[in-house]
Amino acid sequence: MLRRLHHDQPASFAFTPANKAWAEAQITKYPEGRQASAIIPLLWRAQEQEGWLTRPAIEAVADMLGMAYIRALEVASFYFMFQLQPVGSVAHIQVCGTLSCMICGAENLIAVCKDKIAANAHALSADGKFSWEEVECLGSCANAPMAQIGKDYYEDLTAEKLAWIIDELAAGRVPTPGPQNGRYAAEPLKGLTTLTAHESGRTQFNASVQLATDIGDTVKRIDGTEVPLLTPWLGKTAKKPAAKKPAAKKAAPKAAATKAEPKAEKKPAAKKPAAKKAAPKAKKAETK
Ligand code: FES
Repeated sequence: MLRRLHHDQPASFAFTPANKAWAEAQITKYPEGRQASAIIPLLWRAQEQEGWLTRPAIEAVADMLGMAYIRALEVASFYFMFQLQPVGSVAHIQVCGTLSCMICGAENLIAVCKDKIAANAHALSADGKFSWEEVECLGSCANAPMAQIGKDYYEDLTAEKLAWIIDELAAGRVPTPGPQNGRYAAEPLKGLTTLTAHESGRTQFNASVQLATDIGDTVKRIDGTEVPLLTPWLGKTAKKPAAKKPAAKKAAPKAAATKAEPKAEKKPAAKKPAAKKAAPKAKKAETK
């Protein structure tokens, strides 16, 4: 599919103060001259702020990172995680249409999207709440068919289950992500047959679903309130100069040692043979 900028673009873009602080902190992760490495997290945050990635947002991020606009556009248009057109205000649904999911019923899921959202992919529903698209394998093949809704996976889906999930989301409720057929993760449907010790002491949901449930950001846009802004690497950077000084001191003694090496080598070499030779002489004198 050709990915290009949407024909309708806003006039401008600016990060909110909280997002700007977060973006500037991310840039400090990278060494001088490598700030462009922060482009994906910054584009992602811009998308979280606006709902989709606009041209002014791409250009604003490029400006922050000292990049040519075309280089930022190359990244934005390459990754499917970046939405280059407006998406549903509640959720954008990405149905996997690759082999495993197709065999297990992806076409039925797409039919639900066409029926309940819009006839064509990337078109908004009549109420503007939803949009959908077919995507390539999302790496959850053992739980096919599946769809990514917002940031989380809904797996082991049926047409009826997906229709119910869309209705729930429209009503303002967020169904628990993960397997929708009672499985904990990707174990056999009838339960574990090996490694059964792992069944004890586990959390209510598998790790991915547990995290999604704890953070609650399945369809919520990240705005900085989910977790505090942490930049532990800044503290480490401040300590680095202090760590370098001892290293310089260590280098100096090494240089001195190399100069003194000839003297140090000569002394032991002269003493050892003398000691060994003296002992036999004394023994011989005692016997006589
Ligand atoms: S084929 Fe659908 S997740 Fe891999």
